[in-house]
Parts: sequence; structure tokens; C-alpha cells
Amino acid sequence: GRPLTVLGVESSCDDTAAAVVTGWPGGNDAPRILSSVVSGQTDLHAAFGGVVPEIAARAHAEQLDLCVARALADAECSLSDLDAIAVTAGPGLIGGVLSGVMCARGLAAGADLPLVGVNHLAGHALTPRLTDSVTYPFLMLLVSGGHCQFLAVEGPDRFARLGGSIDDAPGEAFDKTAKLLGLGYPGGPLVEAEARDGDPERFAFPRPLLDRPGADMSFSGLKTALRRARDGIVAEKGGLTRRDRADLCAGFQAAVRDVLVEKTRRAIGLFADRTGRRDATLAVAGGVAANGAIRAGLEQVAADAGFAFTAPPLALCTDNAAMIAWAGIERIADGAALDASITARPRWPL
Ligand code: KG4
Ligand code: ZN
Repeated sequence: GRPLTVLGVESSCDDTAAAVVTGWPGGNDAPRILSSVVSGQTDLHAAFGGVVPEIAARAHAEQLDLCVARALADAECSLSDLDAIAVTAGPGLIGGVLSGVMCARGLAAGADLPLVGVNHLAGHALTPRLTDSVTYPFLMLLVSGGHCQFLAVEGPDRFARLGGSIDDAPGEAFDKTAKLLGLGYPGGPLVEAEARDGDPERFAFPRPLLDRPGADMSFSGLKTALRRARDGIVAEKGGLTRRDRADLCAGFQAAVRDVLVEKTRRAIGLFADRTGRRDATLAVAGGVAANGAIRAGLEQVAADAGFAFTAPPLALCTDNAAMIAWAGIERIADGAALDASITARPRWPL
């Protein structure tokens, strides 16, 4: 088919985003991101150490129109140049999802454009096809502040969950670790920086669920272990030194890495059993994929299994609207029904 030009709109968590992407799945020309605008809310939530839903919803409502206007301006196009609008319809915080859906519905109605609702997780999962033209089926590990799952991605609307966290997402665990150690928010990059010159062996952190078969994971116990270790030092010495903090971060990070690496090895096995493919691609996305130690471990496990490895550039690993526009294109190419009256689905499993 001919390339489609689609505006994507995303507001399901703590980033408001709009983007214009042009392309067609499997087309001769690689898809192109004509613009991608992300307006974060980190500063608004920093004082609370996590996302506050009411604050997020209000900020989205304020930022959506601005983001869309900038995305169109950056792409040097107007609504009349578009073929469709794609919007995240869930899962996510109800206030934010609703704001985005209402914004997109208004634009689509005003410009007489078709509207396609996109699952936020599908947006992340299909990103390797936007950035690297990865072919189906491939294995995706999605690891962020809100998500942690292995998906066999078999088509634009065909995902099989092979395992995932049964409690916290790893990014959440990084954020809580940072909070417990007084490092700031978001915690991932700060914990990684502290861990760099720490001793991962000094404190014993558990490797939860490694004794059980399958690719399910658990991270909430690490937070408990960290708090206990911290309280132990404080009780003994009255406070934490730089060295203590570095060792705690290094121990915590190594535990997360070991769990993700071992469970990825098993997920590759499950993927191969399911698809019959022993030479596909392992793709990772989500903010935690930015972690150097974790990424290196995952690259190694892919190489050991004979799988290719890819991680989208960081700006496309974390929440953005280019992935939503692209997932919209994939869905339209797949013959998805377009519906001008889509509704928000705060809970929407893949
Ligand atoms: O994908 P993302 O931007 O948002 C969602 O959660 O959907 O991921 C953000 C999460 C935060 O929890 C953050 O602490 C974590 O990713 N993160 C990291 C690193 N950079 C971001 N975790 C570990 N190491 C990092 N370098
Ligand atoms: Zn996300």
C-alpha cells in the first residue's frame, strides 16, 4: 500500500506526547518519524516520588493541544495532510487516557479524519518494526516503571504473554530504591550512577522466583531487602555513607539484572517452543532498558541463544507518540475497524 501519514497522541501516564509518522508496514521505504514531541511531567511529580494521577490528568489536559500543534508544525504539515489520527485508548490512568481520547476525537471530527484506538503496550511492542523493520514473530521484553512482561509479538494485533512480573515493575523498584536512599526521582538513572562504583556482593539480595519454572518474575521483595539492609546500617552507624549507598545500589541492580537475564533466557525457550523459531530477535523497550548493566546482560543472553538483539533509541524506548502513530498505521494496514467514537479503556490487556 501507499505510505500513510498519521498523527499519534499519547497521554496514558506521565508524558503528554504527539507525533507524526509516515510509512507502511513492509513498504519499500522505511517509515519516517516526521516529528515527535514529548512534554514530561517529572518536575510536577518529583516532590511526591511517583506519579500523582490527579496532577497528571490536569497537566495532560493543559499540554495536549500544545503538543499536537508543535508536532504538526515540526512535521510541516496540517491536519488536511493526514490520513488518520491514532490515540492511546488504554491501559493507563483514566484521567490522562480520557483527555487524549477526547482531544483526538475532537480533531478527527473537525478534520473529518478516521480515528484508530491504540493499546499503549502494543505501541511499545511494535516499536522495533518502526525503528529496525524487525519482522514477525519476535520476542519483546517490556521493562519500565509500569510494565514488565515478555511478549511473543506475532502480528499487529497478535501478542502472547509468555511471563511477567507478578508484583512491581523493575522501574518502580528502582524508583522506590532511590526514594529509600534519598537519591531523587526518577530513580533508575540515579541508582545506576551510584551502583557504578559499588560492591554488588556486600549485601545479600534475593533472586526471587528463579527456583520456579517459567518466565514470571517478582521484584517487591528486593525493596524489602533493601529497606532491611538500610535500616541495619542506620541502626548500627546512625546513617549511610556514600560507600554504603553505592554498595546498596550495586547489590540491588545486580539482583534485578540477574532475574531479568535468567527469565529472558527462559522466555526465549518458551518463544522458540511456541513459534518454532530459534533465530528470531529479542527486542527490549521501556525505561529500564536504558540501564547499561541490564542491557549488557540481555544482549549476552540473546547472543548465547543465537537471537538478534535490538533496543530502540532511548527516546523511543520510553513513552512517546511516534510509537502510537506507528501502531495506528500497523492496525490500519491490518484492516482494523476505524471508529470515530472510540472510548477510553483504562484496563485493556493485550
Ligand atoms: O518507559 P518509561 O519512561 O515509563 C513508563 O514507566 O512507562 O520508564 C520509566 C522507568 C522509571 O521507573 C525509571 O526509574 C526507569 O524507567 N529507568 C531506569 C533507568 N532509566 C529509567 N531504570 C534503571 N536504570 C536506568 N538507567
Ligand atoms: Zn509506557
